[in-house]
Amino acid sequence: MKKYGFIGYGNMGKMIVENILNLKIFYPNEMIISNRTLSKLNKLKKDYPDITITDDNTYLAKNCDKIFIFVETPEFKDLIFQISPFLTDDSHIVHVCAGLSFENINSFYKGSVSQVIPSIVSTFNNYHNESININNNEDVNNIHNIDNNSDIGSNHTFNCFKNACNNKLGISLILHSNNTSNTDKCLIEEIFNEFSYIRIIDDFELSNDENNDRAVEIATILTSCAPAFISLIIDNLVSIANLKSKNKINVDEAKYIVVKTFLSTFIQIDTDNLCTSDIIDKTSTKKGITEIGLNYLDKNSNELINDLFDLLLERYDEVKSELNKNYS
Ligand SMILES: NC(=O)c1ccc[n+]([C@@H]2O[C@H](COP(=O)([O-])OP(=O)(O)OC[C@H]3O[C@@H](n4cnc5c(N)ncnc54)[C@H](OP(=O)(O)O)[C@@H]3O)[C@@H](O)[C@H]2O)c1
Repeated sequence: MKKYGFIGYGNMGKMIVENILNLKIFYPNEMIISNRTLSKLNKLKKDYPDITITDDNTYLAKNCDKIFIFVETPEFKDLIFQISPFLTDDSHIVHVCAGLSFENINSFYKGSVSQVIPSIVSTFNNYHNESININNNEDVNNIHNIDNNSDIGSNHTFNCFKNACNNKLGISLILHSNNTSNTDKCLIEEIFNEFSYIRIIDDFELSNDENNDRAVEIATILTSCAPAFISLIIDNLVSIANLKSKNKINVDEAKYIVVKTFLSTFIQIDTDNLCTSDIIDKTSTKKGITEIGLNYLDKNSNELINDLFDLLLERYDEVKSELNKNYS
């Protein structure tokens, strides 16, 4: 019986393998995990003795039809050369390598391929465990353990957030090459749908269609890069609040205030209690403090966000042209 193979146990590989194990999507004895540095897998093997670990990708390829690849993009080409002699008509490659097109891969591997663009915020943690408990009505009081500042208000916010999130975190974008079978498509979509919101990018042909490419890149910026941008904005709000209040609002307190305000705003928008324009209208009074801030932000953030997209798309072009050269 063939197993499920996972190559690369870094940020993405670890997150997805742990999500699969924690949510019991596959049994450990159905999984083979390979990493260049084998010692990184010691803890996983200790926690799941039935899992197979290796640093031999060819061993994995011989024993697996469905192979998930989580290595850095520049490592992909050598890896696929290494394992392709062992791939069969039943093989299905699923990779997460940013910037790599089906056309790049098709120039030397003709089998079925899917690309998933995951997000680090889909990390499975106590959040999911606690959500499962709450949904099963097993231990509602567990909510209190999660939130260090466990006052009634924050637990309520957290609970609302869990309900709004439907036990899922982050967006996974999914693309399939046009020779992927429906069964293989469904398997991949079901796995990622267990712990994240999936968005399937349909009918993605092996083409150089500019609009298609840009849509994927822009969606990637919004899903995969955005958690880092949002985190930076939070850090800057916190450190400036701390500085401007002459340390009267300490960093932990500022972070608590900022994160709870972001979270609550997102819940209102996500659950359609209030839309963004309602929040703007209801918060600002004529010539009040908020209105002055809104005018300032509106004037400056449009240009900033526009420049940010241009900068990132320019970098995409550079990466794509390097990959096209490398794969030609
Ligand atoms: N990080 C994100 O938020 C994010 C989001 C979307 C997509 N991605 C994509 O995900 C991919 C991986 O990113 P990452 O952040 O997870 O990278 P990472 O943390 O550097 O992990 C890469 C892992 O792959 C292993 N590896 C490299 N070559 C290998 C080989 N030939 N055989 C077996 N294992 C090998 C590395 O082993 P060692 O332990 O020896 O270094 C390392 O553990 C990238 O292509 C990136 O574009 C990342």
